[in-house]
Amino acid sequence: MINIALPKGRLGSRALEVFEKAGYTCPSIHENNRKLVFENTELGVRYFWVKPSDVAIYVERGAADIGVAGKDILLEYSPDVYELLDFGFGKCRMAVAAKKGFEYDPLRQLRVATKFVNIAKNYYRSKSMDIDIIKLNGSIELAPILGLSDVIVDIVETGTTLLENDLEPIETVVQISARLVANKSSFKFKNEEINALAKALSAQLDKEN
Ligand code: PRP
Repeated sequence: MINIALPKGRLGSRALEVFEKAGYTCPSIHENNRKLVFENTELGVRYFWVKPSDVAIYVERGAADIGVAGKDILLEYSPDVYELLDFGFGKCRMAVAAKKGFEYDPLRQLRVATKFVNIAKNYYRSKSMDIDIIKLNGSIELAPILGLSDVIVDIVETGTTLLENDLEPIETVVQISARLVANKSSFKFKNEEINALAKALSAQLDKEN
């Protein structure tokens, strides 16, 4: 049995579609109920939905053999897992944004609000900038509007949230997309099954592009 952690939400649904088209179907997952774990014993797959930011933890600790996680989560938490495949969807970018017209003052410590503390720290460390990090858990765009921070480091997909709040992207930190990750010991002990699955997913993605 391969245990597969899927991120709840649009990304996970899109990923499940690829798994199923690649042959790893699971009829019970489409039943309308509040169950969290779904199996297809014949095919040897067990899917479960988890909070997107928790996928890496499930896979790193082996509760899931493989999982689907955004590159943002992988960069933020640096889990000790193998990255097997880039799904090529869930594309967005991690960007620095600020109020329109914002000008950086090198004499003042830059205040950075973000959910992605490690990504932000690494980014500014690479620019040798000493910053004041303000960790928030959501609605990051509010911070510069209310003067809580000078800039934000956050995900930009369509750019609508920034636009509608009179903010603008200043710099791109890194490009993001969904990745297939594997637990290191599962990859060793279930190598054949995991490789076959990754290959089937990759073939399916090639077909779609
Ligand atoms: C994310 C991100 C931005 C928004 C960007 O928020 O934090 O707020 O999406 O998308 P856009 O460029 O297409 O407007 P999410 O909906 O995940 O909620 P959050 O406020 O909890 O971060």
